[in-house]
Amino acid sequence: MKSSLLSLAAALCARHAAAQFAQAAMMRFQCSQLVIERLDPLVNPGMVQSTHVHQIVGGNSFNATMAPVEYDPAEQSTCTTCSFSEDFSNYWTANIYFRAKNGSYKRVPQMVNLGLRGQGGVTVYYIPPYDGKTKVTAFKPGFRMLVGDAALRTQRGMQRQICHRCEENIQQTPFGGAPCTGKDTGAFPTTMCHGGIRTTITFPTCWDGKNVDSPDHKSHVAYPSSGTFESTGPCPDSHPVRLPQLMYEVMWDTREFNDPAIWPESGQPLVYSMGDATGFGQHGDYIFGWKGDSLQRALDARCTGDRCSALTTQTPEEATACLKSQTMEEETEGWLDAIPGGMHPM
Ligand SMILES: *[C@@H]1O[C@H](CO)[C@@H](O)[C@H](O)[C@H]1NC(C)=O
Ligand SMILES: *[C@@H]1O[C@H](CO)[C@@H](O)[C@H](O)[C@H]1NC(C)=O
Repeated sequence: MKSSLLSLAAALCARHAAAQFAQAAMMRFQCSQLVIERLDPLVNPGMVQSTHVHQIVGGNSFNATMAPVEYDPAEQSTCTTCSFSEDFSNYWTANIYFRAKNGSYKRVPQMVNLGLRGQGGVTVYYIPPYDGKTKVTAFKPGFRMLVGDAALRTQRGMQRQICHRCEENIQQTPFGGAPCTGKDTGAFPTTMCHGGIRTTITFPTCWDGKNVDSPDHKSHVAYPSSGTFESTGPCPDSHPVRLPQLMYEVMWDTREFNDPAIWPESGQPLVYSMGDATGFGQHGDYIFGWKGDSLQRALDARCTGDRCSALTTQTPEEATACLKSQTMEEETEGWLDAIPGGMHPM
């Protein structure tokens, strides 16, 4: 009796969160692919190359070294792949490789989300508190943070902020639903997903108000002390400043791989670029690079979607023309004998 009441409450809670999520005024926009390469100015600053491949979107000043504050992406970039042309931030995640029955690998391309235009990349969200009242403070120059742990291979703690959704069809119907609700999993889906796979990466919303970074790139920020991450739960005393909720949505186009003839007999064929065949090692990195006070203006105007009277936008053609070459040239595309960097699946 008690457990069925609890599960009913949990179901209602999830539905409530999903409804809130669908109604919230939130910026949701396309950032097309800038480059795919082994570089990580946050976790491996100065290292050419870093251990595993990332897909990077945003300002073209992305570089192996991007020291906080002194290296200002809005100053250093000459273009951005994001639809808001004042956003020179960099957003990046690991890539997925498909491992075929014969042992060859091919990168799974990203596709553009419903209602947006561009090329590959990531859908970026900035979500203010749902109550429409709580003051939200834009990230400060030099700010950066990391969600997830590339070394993780089991479900643990923070990984509730990173989920996979197996889309049954390309229309993503039934549409919506808050991240990490319903049938979403921390692990890779185990079956063929005919509409691709959606990965959501949701960042903390509370800041210590002082540090733009921390040694683990995590402890200067925190999730609300109660409530689910989508709620307006209170920030802990240690991290009192309310940030907009940054979220990435990556749509992996698995369709060309949904062929039983090339699926390995061992089952689940996907491997993240750090050699993670579980899915738990996915991670998202952020380096703030909005020009001047443009992000604060957009938040104050409660901008929604990818049009905003407080911001300038560029066309998808202008955004996709912004490209950066690999710092060190390396083959990441087509059928490969190994994952770039020689990362072995485990
Ligand atoms: C990237 O860093 C290198 C030195 O590490 C520098 O030569 C190059 O100009 C930088 N690129 C940009 C776009 O700032
Ligand atoms: C492995 O299989 C894929 C898909 O059929 C094929 O395109 C690729 O050439 C094969 N690799 C090798 C080394 O035979």
